[in-house]
Amino acid sequence: MLIEQLVKGGSNLDKLRLGILASGRGSNLQAIMDAADNGKIYAEVVLVISDRQDAYALERARQRDIPAEFVNPKNFTSKAEYEKVIVELLNRYGVELVCLAGYMRIVGDTMLKAFPDKIINIHPALLPAFPGLHGQEQAWRHGVKFSGCTVHFVDERVDSGPIIIQAVVPVLEDDTADTLAARILEQEHIIYPEAIRRYSEGRLKIVGRKVITCE
Ligand code: GRF
Repeated sequence: MLIEQLVKGGSNLDKLRLGILASGRGSNLQAIMDAADNGKIYAEVVLVISDRQDAYALERARQRDIPAEFVNPKNFTSKAEYEKVIVELLNRYGVELVCLAGYMRIVGDTMLKAFPDKIINIHPALLPAFPGLHGQEQAWRHGVKFSGCTVHFVDERVDSGPIIIQAVVPVLEDDTADTLAARILEQEHIIYPEAIRRYSEGRLKIVGRKVITCE
């Protein structure tokens, strides 16, 4: 039987409260903050969390006076304990949608149960091809003619949840893994805010494995 559900009501007049989890440079975070600032999405980034103290994403948030928290996984004996603290923080800031943006950890049960169908991720390949680390380089090495990026809901497996949006990027014959990654990143910065926009407008419906965008 197909499970059908509307994942967010569109009647909420308040801006959608976003919590971003990032481990690195934070260019997708930047694209999301920019889209929120210039009104492309009716949402605001209320909290950024990183598992790395030196993540530039934290700096980007602080430059905008957005709360930025480093939570050191090494301080916890289990993933569940670590995620409990992340969930507490997200709840304290009233986060409604969790966006993984270069977050280098596999999301566990604790977070999934606390935010069911409320965690999304961006992956730099056309899933289900090339999941896991270095999707751009995997695609380039394989010799595909087209790659791209994917925004998807997060489920209990890696890069496997229902797909919200994909963008296709042609692979050029003189591409290196880096030049391909750079063109994919440009598309990431477009489709991630667009996925958040659709979510915030209550237009995404999960039907089994499929995500339907309602008009
Ligand atoms: C992006 O390529 C994203 O697709 C992947 O990790 C990278 C993060 O880049 N999940 P940034 O930190 O957002 O610049």
